[in-house]
Formats: sequence, structure tokens, C-alpha cells
Amino acid sequence: MNRCFFVTGTDTDVGKTVVSCALLQAAANQGYQTAAYKPVASGSKQLTVGLRNSDAQLLRKNSSVKLNYHDVNPIVFAQATSPHIASQLTGELIDWQIMHGGLNKLKQSADWIIVEGVGGWYTPLCAEHTLADWVIQQQLPVILTVGIKLGCINHALLTAQAIEQSGLSLAGWVANEIVLPGQYQQDYLLTLKQRLSAPCLGVIPHLPNWQSHSIGKFVNLDNLL
Ligand SMILES: Nc1ncnc2c1ncn2[C@@H]1O[C@H](COP(=O)(O)OP(=O)(O)O)[C@@H](O)[C@H]1O
Ligand SMILES: [Mg+2]
Repeated sequence: MNRCFFVTGTDTDVGKTVVSCALLQAAANQGYQTAAYKPVASGSKQLTVGLRNSDAQLLRKNSSVKLNYHDVNPIVFAQATSPHIASQLTGELIDWQIMHGGLNKLKQSADWIIVEGVGGWYTPLCAEHTLADWVIQQQLPVILTVGIKLGCINHALLTAQAIEQSGLSLAGWVANEIVLPGQYQQDYLLTLKQRLSAPCLGVIPHLPNWQSHSIGKFVNLDNLL
């Protein structure tokens, strides 16, 4: 059976990619064939082979199934801005058929798929729709990345409420120490554990060189199985 999760965050730059890589590593350690998916990415470098987004490259590297770049990231924009703005700039519409088709293709070769979002839960894709609408269409369980810093409790509770109100399951959340732990770190963690109904899957420590560490050990998949 395929396990497929959507990773969102309390904001952009809170560690969705780091958490996605940790979940991929942990699943591969348990013997799953893993694949990552970033259906839409904005903020990319123009290389001779085409536009390349660094999240998608990291996700590809952390997938155990061998994937082409466009298998991981079918829709890629150069500008580092919200996808609906990047899409307006190029005139290229964000096509849900492409987003859906790419995910279906991964389901043929992988049994553990991590889909990384863009920005936060309500990131717009166009004038009418947000990425959350696509996740609802796909009926994916959601994992929330909380970047632990001042303000994260409010952002986490709002995001969890929006996910639950959409009818989707909030399968768990991961605390990511995006900044060096401060005086109230343990209080933030305790408050989140008390107030979020979903289980905490782990705490990823602040690791400036996280790419050279095995980070799968910081997340526990038991609650996802
Ligand atoms: N636990 C961590 N320790 C150190 N740096 C981190 C950690 N988590 C994220 N970062 C850094 O913070 C930035 C944002 O993280 P990223 O995973 O790209 O966020 P998002 O995917 O939510 O935009 C990146 O430069 C990343 O290397
Ligand atoms: Mg990211």
C-alpha cells in the first residue's frame, strides 16, 4: 500500500524541506521505497538543463527511488515569490492535471511519498484556488512543520485549525529548531504538545549543517503507520 503525506509549514522558511528529508530518511531506514514530490516550486536557478529549484534537488537526493528532476518537480518558476504571482509573470497557468499526474506516476514506483508544499497552508495557486484546495482534492493526510520561534504557537494553532476544518487528517507535526533554542524553547514545545491534537512526530535540533547529518533519527513514524 502507498503511504503519501503532504508536508506543510507554519510559514515559508520554517523547515518544510528539512522535515520532508527527515521523513524520507526515516522511511527508507524502515525499508520503504521512498519518493519526494514538490508539485510546484518557485525560486529557481536557470541551468543549461533548465530551471532547477533547490528544494526539489534536495528532495530528489533524499528519495530512495531514482527519479528525474521533473518527476519530483513538474512545475517550476524562476521568481522567488508566491506561485500565483510567478504564474502571472510567465503567463504559465498552474495545471492541476500535471500536479495530479506527477503524483500518480510516483505512486507506481514508490510506497512512501512525501509531498512538500510551498509557503504555508493557504498559498495561492491562482485567483480562485490555494494549494490547500489541491491537497483536499487529493485527500492527503497532512504533516505540519512548526519552526520553533516566537510566534510559532499562534501560527501552528491557526494552521492546524484550518487543516482540520478542511476535513483532512492532521497526521502529526514536527518541531524544527529553525533558530538556536532560546530561553523559552521548552515552554513553546510543551504548549504545542498540549494544544495540538495531532501527535508530535519528533524534534529536529538546530543543525546548521543538517545536510551532512542523518536526520531520519529525529522523527518517529509509528504514528503514521
Ligand atoms: N533544524 C535546522 N537547523 C539549521 N538550519 C535549518 C534547520 N531547519 C531549516 N534550516 C535552514 O533554514 C532555511 C529554511 O529551511 P527550509 O527547510 O528550506 O524551509 P521551508 O522548506 O519551509 O521553506 C534553510 O536555509 C535551512 O537550511
Ligand atoms: Mg522548502
